[in-house]
Amino acid sequence: MKRILVTGSVGQIGSELTMELRGKYGNENVVALGRKTKPSEHLLNSGPFEYANVTDPDSIVAVIEKYDIDTIYHMAAILSAVGEQKPQLAYNVNLNGLYNIVEIARERELTRVMVPSSIAVFGPETPQNNTPQETVLRPTTMYGVTKVAGELLADYYFNRFGVDVRGLRYPGIISSETLPGGGTTDYAVEIFYEAIKNRRYTCFVREDTVLPMMYMPDCIRATIMLMEADLSKLKHHSDFNLSGLSFSAGELAAEIKKHIPEFVCEYEPDSRQAIADSWPSTIDDSAAREEWGWSPEYDLPRMTADMIDKLSPRLT
Ligand code: SER
Repeated sequence: MKRILVTGSVGQIGSELTMELRGKYGNENVVALGRKTKPSEHLLNSGPFEYANVTDPDSIVAVIEKYDIDTIYHMAAILSAVGEQKPQLAYNVNLNGLYNIVEIARERELTRVMVPSSIAVFGPETPQNNTPQETVLRPTTMYGVTKVAGELLADYYFNRFGVDVRGLRYPGIISSETLPGGGTTDYAVEIFYEAIKNRRYTCFVREDTVLPMMYMPDCIRATIMLMEADLSKLKHHSDFNLSGLSFSAGELAAEIKKHIPEFVCEYEPDSRQAIADSWPSTIDDSAAREEWGWSPEYDLPRMTADMIDKLSPRLT
């Protein structure tokens, strides 16, 4: 019987992942964990919710004992842009928080742990197109530093202690339920809200900036697929490249314009441009395809139409 804990459950991915896991494994078997932010009524009323802090291991252990948890989806993290404003906080939450989680998993012999990584593990020296699985990992952000170290730590815990830790290098995630908080790829979500509400958006990266992205339904499906994959088939563990779709900011704006013809997008790059420039444009995810059957379902037109369908009734 799976008894699941989702850290970061109030965040962009955690909020939708928790609901999906509750649907799949039973509401009472999926405990949502938050630190401070108030959860939605939806999250709060559909199953157990607890406050704890991943940098305080005792607070996590208390929840694990209370609910007899055997599986953790560790989604709590500080993203790239906030991480550059508060590098010490990013280090503490992302790395010390992860250490606490894998140590608890080792001590308590938990069944499985999901630890997301990111395209932020790559850096300016990494090949930008069709970025290989095995490549240069020399990021220039604190977020990227914590994600590279996190992958190494997770693989160490697998090889040394047999803790079944699994992880994916998420691209930028586009979603309609919860806004992302403090990432470089946030423009690809904000643009929809502003296009629907105001017919205008000022984008903080250049028009020709191409980054790897993924629509939330693919992100959730990939996460659960990897967690359910047969361990004997996995050659990699915590560092799977993952590809959904790649487009420039200008291509996204043009796709939105097909639905909202009056939409105008302007471009005023800020400090996040340098972060975007240090990341790849497209990703080779053949290891994920071979080892656990990954294949994305959403392309740019389908994702855009679905975002506008979902958001329009709420925003207009
Ligand atoms: N979406 C993240 C960010 O922009 C990348 O993993 O920070």
